[in-house]
Formats: sequence, C-alpha cells, structure tokens
Amino acid sequence: MLRQPLLLLARSSQVKRLVSTMPVSAGIVRGYVPGESTDAVVAATAALVDDGLTVTLDHLGEDTTDRAQAEATVAAYVEVLKALAARGLTRHAEVSVKLSAIGQFLPDEVAPEGGHRLALENARTICRAARNAGTSVTLDMEDHTTTDSTLAILRDLRKDFPETGAVLQAYLHRTEDDCRQLAYEGSRVRLCKGAYNEPESVAYQDRLEVDRSYVRCLKVLLAGQGYPMVATHDPRMVEIASSLASRFGRQPGSYEFQMLYGIRPEEQKRLAGEGETVRVYVPYGQEWYGYLMRRLAERPQNLSFFLTSLISK
Ligand code: FDA
Repeated sequence: MLRQPLLLLARSSQVKRLVSTMPVSAGIVRGYVPGESTDAVVAATAALVDDGLTVTLDHLGEDTTDRAQAEATVAAYVEVLKALAARGLTRHAEVSVKLSAIGQFLPDEVAPEGGHRLALENARTICRAARNAGTSVTLDMEDHTTTDSTLAILRDLRKDFPETGAVLQAYLHRTEDDCRQLAYEGSRVRLCKGAYNEPESVAYQDRLEVDRSYVRCLKVLLAGQGYPMVATHDPRMVEIASSLASRFGRQPGSYEFQMLYGIRPEEQKRLAGEGETVRVYVPYGQEWYGYLMRRLAERPQNLSFFLTSLISK
C-alpha cells in the first residue's frame, strides 16, 4: 500500500532537498550505501571480494538536469575505475551506470546535441575507461520512458564495447520480447523485477504477475546463448533460476546471481560458498535519496528506521 506513495516521493525534489543533507553515515542510509568517496567504496569492494563475492559499483545520482553534474559523474566513474585497477580489483568488479545521471534527460538549452546523444558519448567515455581498467559496464534501466533510448544506446555501445550489459525489468509487458532480442552470444542481461512506479498500460501491477513474468524471462535468458545475471533477493526466484540453469545445462560461471549491498548478505555468501558467481551491487556517493526511497518502497517495514534517523539527525 505504501509502495506507490514512496515511489512518488522518490522523484520529489522538495523532499530530496529536505532530507539529503543527512550524511551517508547516518542511520539507515549506512545499511544500503557503504560510503560517499572513491576510497570508501574501493575499501568496501575489497572486503566483499575477500568474502568470495564480485561487485558492480554505482555512483549514485539520477535525473540530472545540469550538464556540469553529468560531467562530474563521468569523472567520478573514470576515477573509481582507475582506483579499482590500481588495487587489482577489476577482475572482480565492474560498474553500473544510470544514463539519466550522465545526460539522458538534459533539456535542449543545456545539451543542444540532445540528451540521448550526450548520454551515449558520456557512456562511451566510461566504457573506454572500463576497458582500459580491464573491466566492463552495465547500463541500469530507469522508468519505461527511457527503455527505448537505453536499449538504442546499448546497441551503439556494443559496436565498440561488446562487453557492455544492460538491465531488463520483468514488470514491463515488453520485457519477455526484449529478452528474446538480447539472448544472443556475448550479450549480458541483468534481469530484475523493476523498481519504478509504472502505469498499468506498460507494466504488470500484481506481484504474482511480475513473478510469473520474471520466470518466463529467466527461461528465455537461461535457454539462450547470452550471459544471464539473475538480480533478485527473492528466495523463490533464486531457487527457480538454479533449477532452470541445471535444466538448460548451464554450469556455474555461465550465469550469475546479483543482489544489492546490505540485502541478504548471508544468502550472498551462502550462494558463493556453493560455487555460484554472486555479484553485489554497491552504490556510493552523496545522492542516495532516490535509491533509498526505492529500497523503502520494496520494504516499507524499514520506514520507521528511516524516520527515526531523520528525527535524530
Ligand atoms: P521482492 O522485493 O519482490 O521481494 C521478494 C522476496 O525477497 C521477499 O518476500 C523476501 O523474501 C526477499 N527480500 C526482498 N528484499 C529483502 C530484504 N531487504 N531483506 C530480506 N529479504 C528480502 N530495478 C530497476 O528498476 N532498474 C535497475 O537497473 C535495477 N538494478 C538492480 C540491480 C540489482 C543487482 C538488483 C538486485 C536489483 C536491481 N533493481 C533494479 C531493483 C529490482 O528491480 C527490485 O526492485 C528489487 O531487487 C526488489 O525485488 P526482488 O526481486 O529482490 O524481490
């Protein structure tokens, strides 16, 4: 019942201004975001790798309407990729990028070349830095109005950087089809349920329907030729993915499980202990507001911890 209002709040710039002066170290934020700086996130990555996990880093930020901020985000990715390489971590760590953080939504006055084109060029810079560091990029997926643009950018990037992956969201009606299009050799697809507030016209609203779609998409991806990345904390989906992987003759290492930092960490280690590749999505930076609100929408029982952190700030 609280999911929709919390997702609406996730996009409210007024509430964002009000609460985002709270540092990452405060209260509930710390449970989901290990730090603000490159040094902090590289240290968190090293600790996860020591535990037998792999990592994808996300420099927090989205819906950027300021060109300088988009450029600062690109610079932050280049810096963290160099830092990961210097610590010898890029065999185990890649980066995830939200195209709206690097210009996809910039208005024409700010980006005369168009937001789509600017985001593509900025993503290219990050892919080049990832390639030089010995790793890869995965494009996050945002609300449905960005799906076509994001998949078009993926196609363009893959011409020069075929290691680039993308996220697909099972709650969208179109996704089973998108999975079919992307289930080819060399293609990396991270399948998640979807975290935005979407209308009935494009997305399943009922959780059971979303789960059924997730399983249909898993079947397409695991039966296909690509590299599926099963991004979920749902024990049922993890179990179904494991049995489908055996049914389609996939060995561990020809697909992977992915979970968010701070969510079910024991399960992450258990799966890794069983020989599965498990990647932890680690967000860092100061722009934690939208990310945290989506996590609260998934688990409204954590709302009281969040409000307590605000009051005691
Ligand atoms: P869901 O929220 O439906 O929960 C199902 C069950 O999982 C629960 O009943 C519980 O048993 C268990 N569970 C879930 N959360 C738990 C918790 N906090 N503690 C304990 N148990 C818990 N979304 C998007 O729109 N675009 C994107 O680019 C991405 N990227 C992304 C990357 C990665 C690596 C992950 C894991 C997720 C995303 N997401 C995302 C978010 C995704 O769409 C989704 O909102 C969340 O993963 C929550 O959905 P679940 O599949 O985890 O299950």
